[in-house]
Amino acid sequence: MTEQVIIFDTTLRDGEQSPGASMNVAEKMRLAVQLEKLGVDVLEAGFPAASEGDHEAVSQIAGKLQRTEVTGLARTSKGDIDRAWEAIHHASKPRIHTFIATSDIHMDYKLKMSRDEVVKSTADAVKYAKSFTDNVEFSAEDGSRSDRDFLCKVFEAAIEAGATTVNLPDTVGYAIPEEFSDLVKYVKSHTPNINKAVFSVHCHNDLGLATANTLSAINAGARQAEVTINGIGERAGNTSLEEVVMALHTRSNFLSVSTGINTQYIYPTSRLVSMITGIIVQPNKAVVGANAFAHEAGIHQDGMLKNPMTYEIMEPETIGLSANKLVLGKHSGRHALHSHLNTLGYDLSDEEINIVFAKFKELADKKKNILDEDLEAIVTEKILRTADIFALEYLHVIAGNTVLPMASVKLTINGRSVQGAGYGNGPIDATYNTIAKLTGTGSELLRFSVGALTSGTDAQGEVTVRLRENGLVALGKGADPDIITASAKAFINGLNRLEYLKAHPVKEAAVL
Ligand code: KIV
Ligand code: ZN
Repeated sequence: MTEQVIIFDTTLRDGEQSPGASMNVAEKMRLAVQLEKLGVDVLEAGFPAASEGDHEAVSQIAGKLQRTEVTGLARTSKGDIDRAWEAIHHASKPRIHTFIATSDIHMDYKLKMSRDEVVKSTADAVKYAKSFTDNVEFSAEDGSRSDRDFLCKVFEAAIEAGATTVNLPDTVGYAIPEEFSDLVKYVKSHTPNINKAVFSVHCHNDLGLATANTLSAINAGARQAEVTINGIGERAGNTSLEEVVMALHTRSNFLSVSTGINTQYIYPTSRLVSMITGIIVQPNKAVVGANAFAHEAGIHQDGMLKNPMTYEIMEPETIGLSANKLVLGKHSGRHALHSHLNTLGYDLSDEEINIVFAKFKELADKKKNILDEDLEAIVTEKILRTADIFALEYLHVIAGNTVLPMASVKLTINGRSVQGAGYGNGPIDATYNTIAKLTGTGSELLRFSVGALTSGTDAQGEVTVRLRENGLVALGKGADPDIITASAKAFINGLNRLEYLKAHPVKEAAVL
């Protein structure tokens, strides 16, 4: 039997720190259930001291998951550890994750603490966390830029105090693979009690090296990898789960360790994260990008026909990319829809299937073939995005090269109907001006992009917007066969996310 690497997923914590990627509690819950199905060993559900919303999400997830360990992040203060424990104490497998920075630059400028004070704070925090649970992880923030011997001293103190996992983060994505594996080996051989804890790594992707650094650390003996789906996260993101897991899976002859991930759920989980957060996966993204299994050159296609292994190192089915791109149409029944949604990774209740089925029939009247992308857009809009304050009821737009563009809009705001009309430079400007007036919001449109979900002139348009209001940034997405309606839906989705952020402010001091 090969040794197993623990997969620690932080999509809901570090991943949520991606600009604009905030998720509400219901969205986090749905993702947590999917991550458990994917088989992650540990799920970092949030940073409970950061905001009420984070605390609530961590608490609900802790109460729901059975097989997966649930952890909440905490600085080394008693207050943070109390908040984390309050949120996870009822989990079937709780873990407290506490951290403090160990590099000179962070200690001098950010913490204004001496090395001795940091060692003491580490030991005190781990001991305090241990009074709640046996399962305590300690992270040395900015570990890769810390003095090596000091890092060993901090890890020794953490393990002495009872830490069961010690984590070495490359917080600013500065490390180079050979250097990072060398650091792992050094710390493992110079920390006397290191074998009493699991050695973990957590890499950021500022130089595009997060996966390479994580794999080289595993090769040097790390046995926990901290990752996010699609590599989302602070700045350039974190190590992506799918890259590490598929590298270990595909190159087991070289790396000789395995994971407990059910790889067939990788693709559906990647889509779910993109749908919920609004963060688009780049087409050439390894493993889960739209082009990851597309073969364009004639010579490649010829080779593929003769033997797929000529140009394909992984089978698409392994990650849950169904070869069977079932096309549904207006005569397809509820049963066919239900079973196809299952293959796409969506486990919906009967009530949710009814909602999706009604919308599916409506779309099938406008569009001949309903493809996977269309179904995902329906599920996203009708099921995944819940608890909306603003909803679109009606939109009528007059536009053309000889009229002043005008939009008439009817919305519900917390269930109450409001309507109005307005002008603009074009149909989208008129629509956005009217929606902003009706909702009383004053957001700035930072980005607007429109694409087609599938091919064909009857394809649904998909619009993504990035909005900013009072320093808060949110993404919004919408899809519809009519691109002005898709634009309105995306704007309203972004406004709803801004409202959520306004209602759940992150505590200034808790921003990492
Ligand atoms: O990047 C980092 O250092 C972190 C720690 C809190 C683990 O996210
Ligand atoms: Zn991080």
